[in-house]
Amino acid sequence: MADFQHVYDTPPEGANADWTIPQNWEHFSADEHRMWDRLFARQSGMLPGRAADAFLRGLDVLKLSKPGIPDYRELNARLNAATGWEVVAVPGLVPDDVFFDHLANRRFPAGNFIRNPEQLDYLQEPDVFHDVFGHVPMLADPVFADYMVAYGKGGLRSLGFNALDHLARLYWYTVEFGLIEQSDGLRIYGAGIVSSYAESIFALEDPSPNRIAFDLLRVMRTEYRIDDFQQNYFVISGLNDLLQVTVETDFAPLYEKLETLPDIAIADILQTDRVLTHGTQKHAQEAGR
Ligand code: PHE
Ligand code: FE
Repeated sequence: MADFQHVYDTPPEGANADWTIPQNWEHFSADEHRMWDRLFARQSGMLPGRAADAFLRGLDVLKLSKPGIPDYRELNARLNAATGWEVVAVPGLVPDDVFFDHLANRRFPAGNFIRNPEQLDYLQEPDVFHDVFGHVPMLADPVFADYMVAYGKGGLRSLGFNALDHLARLYWYTVEFGLIEQSDGLRIYGAGIVSSYAESIFALEDPSPNRIAFDLLRVMRTEYRIDDFQQNYFVISGLNDLLQVTVETDFAPLYEKLETLPDIAIADILQTDRVLTHGTQKHAQEAGR
């Protein structure tokens, strides 16, 4: 989930220079496949009517309902046919430049392990359920697929600026925790939400969080939390709009401007925001935030 932190600068032993490793699908145990099935059943049962149409289409096109942790040989044949993307296995979080380079080349790095039963609802490092169930369905959508490529290229370009934190916020509030306004109502598309039972309900239905119309500069100024449900969700009006505004905007002047603008505290609402829900922040208050 937090794809912007890593511990080592060189790939661990046995990994390739780009940090990929063989998925070695055969090494997953029956218990590990059962863990996937359990998580899959829970999420796929509650997501119709909550997840974006693009996400639900992706689940279908990729045949992710097949039992067990997906074998990438099979999954990639379908994903590649849809959008030219593929999933590659990595041992865990990878350095930013490596991550951006994979995205720019239509490769999505996925953690090659699955959580254990004590971590059903929360884990710090993204596992194969978060990475594949959460992220890959959206990559079967042609518009979102292009957004992720553009993001990777933008990330590589940003390395020449002092911009990583700002760019990471865009990822956080779209790819991980994004909401979308469909003609039939608000839906979730962020991988951090769709892979979490409790946050899928919270993000859409709870009166606590703010729900604010997406604004590129505003989002890049907004702090976020990694230890609990979000206090803000940003709502895009469509995947095309997200792709268009990010591709057509030259970020270089934005990065410069951002250096002079103060960050926006997590739950603050600005006069210029188009607010869909002014949250009560009850959840955060109860958690003592
Ligand atoms: N247009 C951005 C730039 O000029 C690149 C980008 C595209 C960043 C899409 C994020 C998402 O750097
Ligand atoms: Fe993630």
